[in-house]
Amino acid sequence: MARKGNKTGEWARQHLNDPYVKKATSEGYRSRAVYKFQEIEQQDKLIRSGMLIADLGSAPGGWSQYIARRWGDRVKLVAVDLLEMDPLDKVRFIQGDFQDQSVLNLIDEFAQGQRFDLVISDMAPNITGVRSSDEAQYEALLDSVFDFCEARLKPGGNLLVKLFEGSAAHYYRREVKTKFKRGVVRKPKASRPKSREYYFLSTGFKPSKA
Ligand SMILES: C[S@@+](CC[C@H](N)C(=O)[O-])C[C@H]1O[C@@H](n2cnc3c(N)ncnc32)[C@H](O)[C@@H]1O
Repeated sequence: MARKGNKTGEWARQHLNDPYVKKATSEGYRSRAVYKFQEIEQQDKLIRSGMLIADLGSAPGGWSQYIARRWGDRVKLVAVDLLEMDPLDKVRFIQGDFQDQSVLNLIDEFAQGQRFDLVISDMAPNITGVRSSDEAQYEALLDSVFDFCEARLKPGGNLLVKLFEGSAAHYYRREVKTKFKRGVVRKPKASRPKSREYYFLSTGFKPSKA
């Protein structure tokens, strides 16, 4: 128990000393994750006026907050999370699992028959510690993201997804090649170098039923 306590204390100390945590606090952002998205967005110019955007796994809301601050009414943004998220001006938030039909119905209502230009996902799988079942669960989540795109992303649209090195990411990168024209790996500075996390941006969606 003592060891666990020490680890928690160490994590808290590291978190408070983290330059991105400090920056987020001083700039009024809800999470340090905002700087991962900001770096990718600025490099790849992901957002333009008039876009319809879905932020899957949005809470506490850093990515959505960044988009709402910069583009406001010039884009239409829906954010979805299992967890509660404090309201954000110019963002339609839906609480629930993005895989549930009731949630998908609300997303579709918001989109009013339009397909999305951009889908972004910072979702993380629920880790149990059993590697094989964690990877299987994560693969299923990534498949649901593909299903979401198949039904709702515009031909030519773009998808940004967080991945964790492992078999599910391997599966994702194999599958995504058949569904999008191009793909690039992004490891923004705010993503801790030691973390297995990275981002994969796919552009030029080719729906299979087009
Ligand atoms: C790393 S956080 C997102 C941080 C966010 N990008 C930000 O800037 O504040 C990942 C989120 O994904 C959500 N999530 C995971 N699986 C989900 C699912 N199936 N449906 C909706 N949200 C999910 C979690 O509840 C968690 O809040």
